[in-house]
Amino acid sequence: MKDEGSVPRRPVERRQNVVRSLTLALAGLAATFWWFQPHRVEINAGSETPVHPVSGFTWGQITPSESLEYHDCFDGFQCARLLVPMDYHRSDGKGRQFALAITRLPAKVPVTDPRYGGPILVNPGGPGGSGVTQVRVSGHNLQAIADAESEPRLGSEWDDGGDKYFDIIGFDPRAVGNTTPGFSCFPDTFSLHNWRLQTQADGMLGSSPDSLMRNWQRVTALTDSCSDRILAAEEGEDALGEHVNTPPVARDMLEIVERHAEWREQRGLAAQRILDSQHGYDEEQAIVARTRWNRGRETLLYWGRSYGTVIGATFASLYPDRVARAVLDGVVDSNLYYHNDGQGDGKSNVLDADAIFRRFAYYCDSIGPDACPFYQPGGPAAIEAAYWALEARLLADSLPVHASATRGPEVITWTDLKIIVRIAMYQPLRVFPLLARILGELAVGNGSSLAEFKQQRHGVPSCLSDECRRMGPWSSACLVPELSEDFSTQAILCTDAAHLGQIDRQGFLHHWHNLTRDSKIVGDYWSHTRLDCVGWKAKAKWSFEGPPIGETAHPLLFVSNTLDPVTPLTSARRMSEGFPGSVVLEQDSEGHTTLAAPSLCIAKAIRTYFQTGELPDPDTLCVADLKPLLGAPTHSADTMSVEDRKLFDILLDEVHKSSFFV
Ligand SMILES: *[C@@H]1O[C@H](CO)[C@@H](O)[C@H](O)[C@H]1NC(C)=O
Ligand SMILES: *[C@@H]1O[C@H](CO)[C@@H](O)[C@H](O)[C@H]1NC(C)=O
Repeated sequence: MKDEGSVPRRPVERRQNVVRSLTLALAGLAATFWWFQPHRVEINAGSETPVHPVSGFTWGQITPSESLEYHDCFDGFQCARLLVPMDYHRSDGKGRQFALAITRLPAKVPVTDPRYGGPILVNPGGPGGSGVTQVRVSGHNLQAIADAESEPRLGSEWDDGGDKYFDIIGFDPRAVGNTTPGFSCFPDTFSLHNWRLQTQADGMLGSSPDSLMRNWQRVTALTDSCSDRILAAEEGEDALGEHVNTPPVARDMLEIVERHAEWREQRGLAAQRILDSQHGYDEEQAIVARTRWNRGRETLLYWGRSYGTVIGATFASLYPDRVARAVLDGVVDSNLYYHNDGQGDGKSNVLDADAIFRRFAYYCDSIGPDACPFYQPGGPAAIEAAYWALEARLLADSLPVHASATRGPEVITWTDLKIIVRIAMYQPLRVFPLLARILGELAVGNGSSLAEFKQQRHGVPSCLSDECRRMGPWSSACLVPELSEDFSTQAILCTDAAHLGQIDRQGFLHHWHNLTRDSKIVGDYWSHTRLDCVGWKAKAKWSFEGPPIGETAHPLLFVSNTLDPVTPLTSARRMSEGFPGSVVLEQDSEGHTTLAAPSLCIAKAIRTYFQTGELPDPDTLCVADLKPLLGAPTHSADTMSVEDRKLFDILLDEVHKSSFFV
């Protein structure tokens, strides 16, 4: 912060409210995310420069710099804005820069402490997810998993048996969140909100006989204007939209790692000076030695989920000698992602989604009618059949819902049903109970719970700020980073994978049919990822050409659920083949990324990997400690040790915070 003295301190008692309103906001998210829906922070009416009520922090208070300068921010975090070139290959030294928004949850020991393990960079997925928000929401959980089990004790730097404690660092990638310059596809939040409501009313692909025409024309209007805006640049200048794809983001991570080491070295020199002045000159200069910046040779610690695995695999391909640790959870097949390699050969990424739906029917049948409101006599097959009948009924006829004390009248459509089902496939442990209730109600013609869910997801439109009204439409004052996530997704995805947009309406029809053949449950939904790139104009200056392979300095750890709706286990296996020594660790559960369900076995394997580098045995299968609808299958929480119970509670908290919030 430039001027900490003038920042008004808010009363501490507001903190409770902030935490609550953040949680509520997370419960009301709305956008269409693909591999992963990041945490959504709703902006209060009229404050399009979000001021964090606890610390009074705004990103504008930090002057961007080419070295890392951390400033206290939020509550117990540090923030920095790091300048990086838009175009790393530009040789004239000119050109525009990005100021990357970076948030650090400091390690539980100082960086000068021998137990300091370094910074673990994280990414929540998307593409388009904000690493800054991820660290704010989940940073403490991720740190607790990676850190040594016991708290660091003061004065026992040397006899803690090699225990390590890590920083957790999240950054907003190019075109995401608080990284600047940003871009917007809408002049202000009103027009954005209206667009979203209309999109929803038009319905998803498959919702009506003319759904392809409606969605095609809508996407054409959006991509045409949106890609023009992201390509706008002065003569001779770099255009934002040519530099927001994944390879430069991988390069940015390298820059963060180097700059963090530079900062660490400064801290080390200062700490050594103090020590020497207190205790006399230390011949070994031990602090200086262990904090030294190994310029050009610093290595990455990384933990990415979903699309974050694309960033990780890209980094590992481009800079294999710079990988110290990388956990890739919910693995995207990067060949498929970048090059469409394998699509149409029965390798589409939604092949396992319907199996998760069948698990829903199976679990519902197992627990019976009292616990599963959508129970039908006749076994899982009867439950599945009842669902398809319901879907067909809603396709033929929407369901009007009477207003309630808290919401207006509503109409429940086939699209609404597909959305809640799709979310449940991503997050079974968390959402199957709600799905069972909603389906149970719909079966008797009651749409009230689904109406409640639908309206929560609309979010509350915020008023335009005075600043936005004064500066006018399209001005930076009208841009709300937190509301632009799906356009960030589009900008990154469509530029990474140029092939996606290269398809005509007839070709797309085939693609759509192929995907619905591979998954009846999420095929329509997933087809939108490709549709949203039709007509996208921006081309990457630096695209990823090669196969995602590399001999990394340290082997990667791939992690996958047995059944993942959009990043199947087979993708993890295929990716692992390209990285010698890497291991696939499997969690016996359903959902998107292993944090969809708690597993002490997985968490401990990840901890060991970060602590010592040791990988689990190849093809290790970990049980999940909770099953959707069924609860604890193996052992009850009461029989856990105190330490395991603590870790279990953290994992459970993460189930609620990460991935999907409903
Ligand atoms: C519909 O379901 C809700 C529970 O979510 C219940 O409160 C309401 O009474 C039901 N309406 C009818 C008409 O049964
Ligand atoms: C659809 O799948 C078939 C193979 O089943 C494949 O030949 C074709 O290329 C696919 N079409 C598209 C557009 O993906």
